[in-house]
Amino acid sequence: MSARRLGYWVGAVTLGAALAGCSEESAKTTGSAPPPTASKRGEELFRERCAPCHPDGGNRINPKKTLHARVLADNGIKSAGDIVRVMRKPGPGMTSFDPAAIPDRDATLIAEYVLATFK
Ligand code: HEC
Repeated sequence: MSARRLGYWVGAVTLGAALAGCSEESAKTTGSAPPPTASKRGEELFRERCAPCHPDGGNRINPKKTLHARVLADNGIKSAGDIVRVMRKPGPGMTSFDPAAIPDRDATLIAEYVLATFK
């Protein structure tokens, strides 16, 4: 094999590997969503707006409806979106938080904090 041919061959293999790496990368981003994480802002907002009734993820008013993952799941609340929905349209005894009180972005941070913190 001449040096020139060898160079072409190596180049083709390298290009192939680069393309394979590329498609692997895009496959990763289409996977399921990462688990929620607790942000500093989510924690602060929770402490300010929710902790008076939900200290440590409990519930002072209705002790059956805590924010612990298993209890939430039993009540059909499994994602950050589900928790935001409760804030917008809560059950009896809970303050209602509309987007003027807590914008969607902050509401999502609170919800992620809840999911990441109270197991
Ligand atoms: C005034 C007290 C009060 C405040 C403030 C409050 N909650 Fe609640 N929360 C309740 C009560 C009472 C319930 C039970 C309502 C029901 O019977 O469905 C509840 C239920 C919930 C539930 C459903 C729990 C379950 O196990 O089904 C979630 C989620 C929740 N609250 C999140 C929040 C978040 C997030 C905040 C802050 C943005 C907040 N709450 C602020 C009183 C409060």
